[in-house]
Amino acid sequence: MTNTTTVPGLLDRKVAFVTGAGRGIGAAAARLFAREGARVVLAARTESQLKAVAEEIRAEGGVADHVVCDLGDAASIRAAVGRAVEVHGRLDVAFNNGATNVPPGPMDRVTEADFDRIYAVNLKGPWLSMLAEIEAIRATAGTGAIVNNTSVGSLMANPDLPAYGAMKRGVNSLTASAAVTYGPEGIRINGVAPGTTMTEMFSEWMESSPGILDQLNARTPLGRVAEPEEVAEAAAWLLSDRASYVTGTVLRVDGGMLS
Ligand SMILES: NC(=O)c1ccc[n+]([C@@H]2O[C@H](COP(=O)([O-])OP(=O)(O)OC[C@H]3O[C@@H](n4cnc5c(N)ncnc54)[C@H](OP(=O)(O)O)[C@@H]3O)[C@@H](O)[C@H]2O)c1
Repeated sequence: MTNTTTVPGLLDRKVAFVTGAGRGIGAAAARLFAREGARVVLAARTESQLKAVAEEIRAEGGVADHVVCDLGDAASIRAAVGRAVEVHGRLDVAFNNGATNVPPGPMDRVTEADFDRIYAVNLKGPWLSMLAEIEAIRATAGTGAIVNNTSVGSLMANPDLPAYGAMKRGVNSLTASAAVTYGPEGIRINGVAPGTTMTEMFSEWMESSPGILDQLNARTPLGRVAEPEEVAEAAAWLLSDRASYVTGTVLRVDGGMLS
C-alpha cells in the first residue's frame, strides 16, 4: 500500500523574516524555511543578492519577497519588518542573522570607529529587530518565535575578534532577557551559536589570518567547518512549533568546538 500522508513542513504557513538573507547562513535559512513551508521575507543591504536568492526560492515553488534594510539604522529595521506585515498580513517568526565583522586582531588594535560600527549592527541591530518583530507578532499572529544568530565566539575568550565576541555575548544576554519578558505571552526567543561556517565572513577571516582554518578545525571534534545549511537547520527547528517548550537557550551548532 502506498503511503500518501503528506508531512507538513516545519514552518508550514508561517511568515518568516530573515535578516542577512542575501548570502551565507541567512540565504541558506531563507531557502530552507521556504522549503519547510514558510513565506519568507529576506532583508539585507545588497539588493542584487536578495533578489537573486528570492528569485531562486520562487523558481523552486516557494514564496519569497525582499526588502532592503540596514541593521545600523532603526528606521530601516522598523520599515523592513513593517514591509513583511504589509505583504503577508502577519509575522510569525524571525531569524536575526545579519551581522558584520571587523578586522581580526588584539583588543588594542580595534579602532573606535570599528567598535561603534559593530555595536550598531551586531548588538543594537538585533535589539531593535526584536522590538519591531515582537510588536508585529503581537499585532498579527499573536504568538511566535525569534532566533538570534550569535556565535560560539560569544561563549569564550575571543582574543582575535574581541569586539565581535563582546557584541555576540550581548546578544546572548538580550536573548535570555527577552525570553523571560515575552515568554508569558507565547513568544519564544532563542539563539544559535555557530562554530566555523563556510561563508564570505569566514573567507575574509581566512584571508587576513592564514592558518586559522586549521587552528579552528583542530579545536573541533567533528574536524571540519559547517556548511551554512547546517546552521539553518537548527534555526528552523527552534523557530518551529516542534520546539514549543524551548525558550531562552543558545544552541551551539559548532561541531563540539573546544574553548
Ligand atoms: N561564518 C561563521 O563562521 C560564523 C560563525 C559564528 C557566527 N556567525 C554569524 O552568522 C551570521 C551570518 O554570517 P555569515 O557567516 O553568513 O556572513 P556573511 O556571508 O557575511 O553574511 C552576512 C549577511 O548579513 C548582512 N549584513 C551585514 N551587515 C548588515 C547591515 N548593516 N544591515 C543589514 N544586513 C547586513 C549581509 O548583507 P549586506 O552586506 O548586503 O547587508 C549578509 O547578507 C552572523 O550573525 C555571523 O556573526 C558566522
